[in-house]
Amino acid sequence: MLEPCVFTIFGSTGHLSRTKLLPSLYHLEAEGRLPEGIVIVCVGRRPWNNETWRKEVNRWLEERIGARLDNQRLSQFLEKIHYFLGDIESPETFVKLKEFLETSQGFSDNHVFYLSLPPAEYKMVAHQLAVNDLNQEEAGWRRLVIEKPFGYDLEDAQTLDYSLRKDFGEHQLFRIDHYLGKETVQNVFVFRFANLMMEPLWNRNYIDHVQITHSEMAGIEDRAEFYDGAGALRDMIQSHLLQLLTLVAMEPPPNLDAESIRDEKVKVLKSIRPIPKSAVHAHAFRAQYGRGRNGDRNIPGYLDEAGIPKHSTTETYAALKLYIDNWRWRNVPIYLRTGKRMAGSHSFISIRFKHPPQQLFRETQIEEIPPNWLLLGIQPEQCIRAEMQVREPGIGMRTRTTQLDASTCYLPENGHQLDAYEALLLDVIEGDHSQFLRSDEVHWAWSVVDPILKVWAVERDFIHTYPAGSWGPLESNRLFEKESQAWRNTLASE
Ligand code: BG6
Repeated sequence: MLEPCVFTIFGSTGHLSRTKLLPSLYHLEAEGRLPEGIVIVCVGRRPWNNETWRKEVNRWLEERIGARLDNQRLSQFLEKIHYFLGDIESPETFVKLKEFLETSQGFSDNHVFYLSLPPAEYKMVAHQLAVNDLNQEEAGWRRLVIEKPFGYDLEDAQTLDYSLRKDFGEHQLFRIDHYLGKETVQNVFVFRFANLMMEPLWNRNYIDHVQITHSEMAGIEDRAEFYDGAGALRDMIQSHLLQLLTLVAMEPPPNLDAESIRDEKVKVLKSIRPIPKSAVHAHAFRAQYGRGRNGDRNIPGYLDEAGIPKHSTTETYAALKLYIDNWRWRNVPIYLRTGKRMAGSHSFISIRFKHPPQQLFRETQIEEIPPNWLLLGIQPEQCIRAEMQVREPGIGMRTRTTQLDASTCYLPENGHQLDAYEALLLDVIEGDHSQFLRSDEVHWAWSVVDPILKVWAVERDFIHTYPAGSWGPLESNRLFEKESQAWRNTLASE
């Protein structure tokens, strides 16, 4: 049974809290998964009280969840929510917060502090919590949750980590990468380690290369300031895509303990061949979307977006070629790619197998047999598919590609698809670290991209462009090791 706790959200009026945290907590409450006696404290600067705040939350949930909102569950949920008025810039706020948390009737001594704030605020808030002993665990547990990006580059991440770990123990820190809460991402782990069939093939002897793609049709929306300072490599690859890579490439852990799983993921990151500055151009490619079209709609280019400096060279597209120098993966290229304003919105992993060693069908009507692919769809389509060749019925020797589908996606009866945050918030309350990043994991992930960031930071006078609504710039094909390799843009048979 879950222990009761007080779940305090800093930055509760912000985008993440409105679109993810509060809806996820509501869904967990509606499904009866939250612990008895949980209290949700929302810290904000706006001059609201419990009543006005609950009305706001009610409105957001109606907007997001609509007809599926259960009125009885909703009122139960709203009663658990309290508004705490305070400016985090003022140390006084933390003194008052401590008093509020310690003297309110029925509040548990177990605490989650969720920093739904710009990363620049993490150190200060964590420190103020510690100054007021809200990190002390004599009476109950204390957990601090932070969101990526964990730092701006390797050095900054180290400073942040050092500072957080002065105030909180590693066992108290929950570093969220919401991709780890996605259903199919967790299924990669199950698919690999609950089935024997693939294991003998899962290595350099049979795999030609791996591609991990995340593409979005959306642009930067209202995040110009954040995005222009971050760029695609920091925003997606350093975190989400490298996490997917660790799951594809890791060795089976000895058991399902958080530490055992994270040890294996760290080994993968540590084994990624470092990219020296002189090899950055051979391993990494960046570009920015220009004006384009989506159907009959004109789409502005990145430089036309509100809030973007006219000469910005921030990348909205980034692609990387990595190698993992271990026995399983040596010399198998792993291509990672992400972009905004692309032709489609998908996340998927495609694994291309090598050709059979003997070209047995070369003399027949089949000139070249396409290779096998294994496709792991993460979103929107959640699927596991293997592409194989079968003989076409009839006279003569012809083949076609068929897909074996092991899709696991189904919509539950209530029509609600589990959101990554629901699973992860529950893990925080349970104290399960297995889907959260450990300090050394963050360090090694930054080490992979840091040399690229350094080179790109000084080469600021030119960036390739691609038309909005396209699959990205053709020039990125230069990353491929062989002519037979090309970006795979769809889960359907090509
Ligand atoms: C976030 C990035 O971490 O992930 C966004 O900051 C990106 O730029 C988002 O759009 C993608 O997440 P999802 O769950 O929508 O695929």
